[in-house]
Amino acid sequence: MKVAIPKERRPGETRVAASPETVKKMVGMGLTVAIETGAGDGASIPDGDYAAMGAEIARDAAAAYAGAQVVLKVQAPTLPGETGVAAGQDELSQIPEGAALIGMLAPYDMVPLLGRYADRKVAAFSMELLPRITRAQVMDVLSSQSNLAGYKAVLEAADVFGRTMPMMMTAAGTVPPCRCFVMGAGVAGLQAIATAKRLGAIVSATDVRPAAKEEVQSLGGTFVAVEDEEFAQAQTAGGYAKEMSDAYKQKQAALIAETLKKQDMVICTALIPGRPAPTLVSEEMVKSMKPGAVLVDLAVERGGNCPLSEPGKVVVKHGVTIVGYTNMAGRLPAAASLLYAKNLTSFLSPMVDAETKALKIDWEDEVVTGTALTRDGAVVHPRFAEAAAGA
Ligand code: NAI
Repeated sequence: MKVAIPKERRPGETRVAASPETVKKMVGMGLTVAIETGAGDGASIPDGDYAAMGAEIARDAAAAYAGAQVVLKVQAPTLPGETGVAAGQDELSQIPEGAALIGMLAPYDMVPLLGRYADRKVAAFSMELLPRITRAQVMDVLSSQSNLAGYKAVLEAADVFGRTMPMMMTAAGTVPPCRCFVMGAGVAGLQAIATAKRLGAIVSATDVRPAAKEEVQSLGGTFVAVEDEEFAQAQTAGGYAKEMSDAYKQKQAALIAETLKKQDMVICTALIPGRPAPTLVSEEMVKSMKPGAVLVDLAVERGGNCPLSEPGKVVVKHGVTIVGYTNMAGRLPAAASLLYAKNLTSFLSPMVDAETKALKIDWEDEVVTGTALTRDGAVVHPRFAEAAAGA
């Protein structure tokens, strides 16, 4: 069975869906692995490193895809009918019919186009939808990428911050430590807390999930939140935050407004799966912040936790530098690819029959049903089937 790893073509994507280590693993499983030449360039993985582990280097995407039964991708292939994609120039049309496609397919952003996977008779698996169960942790792309994003967000903030993170006592005087406030203490937020602490900042953090309190405190951060009855119920069985009531949001906003005035650095990571990111830092709040403060909005791709952040840009508004880089994990392409590739092979391995080396998908497995968008020419994911049919 052939596994294809094409070069990523969406703008700004630096990552690749295979590493030399995962190629070795797949070849060891008896699979043929074809890597499009240059696929690893953005992640500093030369063709030769893949070849040394047994991969075939395909001269172009068509050669990589030819005869493949599995396609591993970072981002969704460009789809027929997608804005900005010329007719017949989409990537999906190159994927062989019947193949399994595994990647971060951004289904919430693509609902009207999900039927295209079905039209192509591709079994599309969207890794962002992976259920958060212990067995699936090794496949959890949101965790692996968010962890890096949280770390890098603090470094990007430190880079544009005109002061130091730690307190510095020098002969010429004492520089105070940076006060860093992390909004959303999930995977990215917890890593941001740990990173800012390591750099010497005084760190506090907020979240709406009660479980976050202990985690923040265990990393040496101070927890700031409205801890009422609604807060006690704010976590879904899947471990995610719920959308909060308007009354809660108002109380939260008042507390956050006071907290923000004292901060030098704010790292925003608050997300709710499948919904726009909650607005947590209003323009008024930005105005109240210290001159020279820095805000990094990791939620910018889902509308942002701050309405002033601009996707892909660093802007200065009311004296505050607002960093709106998208794809923060992609700013650490080598590390992000290494972990992402491992997530994908962990997902793929149980789908490969040890004897026949062919795909043998257990359609009863919750890891499979949780991620499968399409199967046998239909959109099958319960969250998207109806909407996709309507589109
Ligand atoms: P996420 O990326 O969806 O959201 C980031 C954070 O924003 C979350 O902690 C969320 O509670 C918070 N948030 C949402 N709305 C907010 C608001 N209005 N104000 C403040 N904060 C808000 O979540 P992420 O980071 O992917 O994971 C959430 C949790 O899931 C983790 O902390 C962990 O407990 C659990 N998890 C479980 C895994 C497993 O068992 N396989 C793997 C990874 C995470």
